Amino acid sequence: MAKVAVLPGDGIGPEIVEASLPVIEAAAKAARLKLDFERALVGGAAYDATGHPLPPATLKLCDASDAIYFGSVGGPKYDTIPDPNLRPERGALLPLRKRYTLYANVRPAVVYPGLERRSPVKEEIVRGMNLLVVRELVGGAYFGKKALAAASAYDVISYDRVQIERVLRFAFEVAMARGRHLTLVHKANVLLTSVLWKRVWDRVRARYPKVRVDDCYVDAFTMYLISRPRDYDVVVTENMMGDILTDEAAQVTGSIGLIPSASLGPRRTRHGTFGLFEPSHGSAPDIAGKDLANPLATILSGALMLRYSFGAAKAAERVEGAVRRVLAKGLRTRDLAGPKGRALGTRAMAAAVLKEL
Ligand code: NAD
Ligand code: IPM
Ligand code: MN
Repeated sequence: MAKVAVLPGDGIGPEIVEASLPVIEAAAKAARLKLDFERALVGGAAYDATGHPLPPATLKLCDASDAIYFGSVGGPKYDTIPDPNLRPERGALLPLRKRYTLYANVRPAVVYPGLERRSPVKEEIVRGMNLLVVRELVGGAYFGKKALAAASAYDVISYDRVQIERVLRFAFEVAMARGRHLTLVHKANVLLTSVLWKRVWDRVRARYPKVRVDDCYVDAFTMYLISRPRDYDVVVTENMMGDILTDEAAQVTGSIGLIPSASLGPRRTRHGTFGLFEPSHGSAPDIAGKDLANPLATILSGALMLRYSFGAAKAAERVEGAVRRVLAKGLRTRDLAGPKGRALGTRAMAAAVLKEL
């Protein structure tokens, strides 16, 4: 039987994961896919229980699984842990990404019909926006040489050709399967790593003559993402730029509570690719424990897991269709309803998706 490591984590993590699992289980069952979901501690929850945010038992479970279904980690309680390497984000999430070389992080940002007015950007600008960011996930400043002294610190941004080429190829393949338009976002007027990205880009793109390509400086791109988001199909960029741009793209769609993610690497499973699937947002301490969080990003991350790790594209589409219909019917969590609109809680929203499925 295929196995999924379920790591709820901190803040809203446990709420959104527990609410979403029945949806994913039902979709898998209908596709005659037998999945064994096994839970383990991660992040602050694991630190509190064991003294480490990524304990050996959790690693063992992940090693033995076909996919990781992840909630979110971190929170104010852990921001002041004496050893910064034991913070949930640096001590658990980044090591998991690195351990399985999850170099391709896929984050689709879609404006759903009926939600155009939830965007802070004018309706006529965002209607029909549907872009996908491919963010390099195991290089750059996150994983470069680092040091922190009393009065100075550094984080080195470093990339090599292999790291750049594999994620660019991934992005070109994604673009081939979508609208065949790929945009590279970089800072080649200043950063030498971006100069290397552009050189590798020039070689890789020659192999994909059917894909229309362009490239853009990251600072300008933050403007275009707001002024003409529909001009983009697939966007590829390095780790930290991708982190920032995906939160921006999320807000343009109305809420980060809608944006799933898949982090993929070279490890193959029986039916697809091993991956870590998590919402693009964090542990939202401001709304944790109140049944207020939007579970849709987590449910949609589960759909990506069905597609990428279990080869169950139909099951994934059924989940995505159910989410689309629930939104089209006007059901909203607080983040989507606005301060005066009627809103459902986390559990009720997930239950509505399950019913629709
Ligand atoms: P955040 O994404 O947790 O929250 C930003 C804002 O978005 C908050 O107002 C929050 O209420 C809202 N929000 C987020 N998810 C939502 C949802 N599903 N439904 C409704 N509203 C939602 O970012 P932050 O506040 O900068 O970070 C909080 C903590 O989460 C930090 O410790 C950070 O390091 C961590 N973090 C973890 C991950 C992860 O585990 N992958 C990702 C990002 C941030
Ligand atoms: C994300 C998060 C993480 C990142 C943090 C929590 C390490 O913001 O997944 O977008 O920066 O990659
Ligand atoms: Mn982020």
